[in-house]
Amino acid sequence: MSDRAPDDEIARLLAAFRDESGRGASSRAEFERLKGRWLGRDKGLVPELFGKLKSLPPGERAGFGVRANAAKTEVEEGIVRLGRALEASEAASRDRAAAVDVTLPGRGVRTGGLHPITIVRRRIEDIFLRMGYSIADGPEVENDFHNFEALNFPPDHPARDSQDTLLVDREAASPLLLRTHTSPVQIREMRKHGAPLRLIVPGRVYRKDEVDATHSPVFHQVEGLVVDQGISMADLKGTVAAFLEELFGKGTRTRFIPTFFPFVEPGVDVSMSCIFCGGSGCGKCKGSGWIEIMGAGMVHPRVLQGVAIDPEEYTGFAFGLGLDRVALLKYGFPDLRLLFEGDVRFLGQFAGVA
Ligand code: DAH
Repeated sequence: MSDRAPDDEIARLLAAFRDESGRGASSRAEFERLKGRWLGRDKGLVPELFGKLKSLPPGERAGFGVRANAAKTEVEEGIVRLGRALEASEAASRDRAAAVDVTLPGRGVRTGGLHPITIVRRRIEDIFLRMGYSIADGPEVENDFHNFEALNFPPDHPARDSQDTLLVDREAASPLLLRTHTSPVQIREMRKHGAPLRLIVPGRVYRKDEVDATHSPVFHQVEGLVVDQGISMADLKGTVAAFLEELFGKGTRTRFIPTFFPFVEPGVDVSMSCIFCGGSGCGKCKGSGWIEIMGAGMVHPRVLQGVAIDPEEYTGFAFGLGLDRVALLKYGFPDLRLLFEGDVRFLGQFAGVA
């Protein structure tokens, strides 16, 4: 009897449990370890106690069993209490983590701004939308047919040279290239919708240019196209003049100088009175009082014929201008590269300028 001392053993076990559970479990892992040590199916201290029942003399078994059961109940209840305490402390620390200290000073939120090109593009779109134009779009990977041929470029025109044009696939039936201007969208839109037509095409264009203050291999244009009955050079002049006054301010004057583009006849270079000196002559306009701003002209009859629009019935005008150049002029900064380098110290200045 003394070597087994079953009563003492139960009492010792309970004392140990009270001591251990009294210290509590500081983590879920610790709780699980404790629970396993006491109640674990195979090796748990309490189940082990019942294993000893068999080795007791029959006369002692009943009494031992009753006490062992009482001990088991106490351990089980103790474990349940420990589990609840652990849950409560976990919930409390979750609450603490989620709590908002309303006395802390707020953190500033940095807002983004629109890129100057986007600001200018939207301004131009707004002006033409108000004049009843729609906005069209076309692929940046274009073919020779739309970019040159249908626009009446002769086969040996220097712009078709791979010196200027970035070719994508020269073997294709109509060689693929990165469009060098937004004019091919004129062809696509006229083929799709016929006449009458009144649209602008803002978009990215590509040329084999080295990067410097005024050149970039990728830049932006806005194309304009109006085709209808009785459209004349006077409509072109009135539209361009109204547009430039809207964009650069009342009093901006417009001047047309004849020039050549294959897809228009006649073609013109459009200049506006210098926005820096008002036309009296300054460094920005090289003393001339004028700044070149776009190309334009009356849509060439051959271009209309090519898209099955009868040039006897319909006439049209077209224009194209560089968005990047407009941004440079409007905001008065000197270097195109600022638009492409993504430096937020520069771009941040345009946040909120619409
Ligand atoms: N596509 C010409 C260029 O990139 C610009 C241009 C000139 C467009 C005259 C036109 C136009 O629509 O009529 O240089």
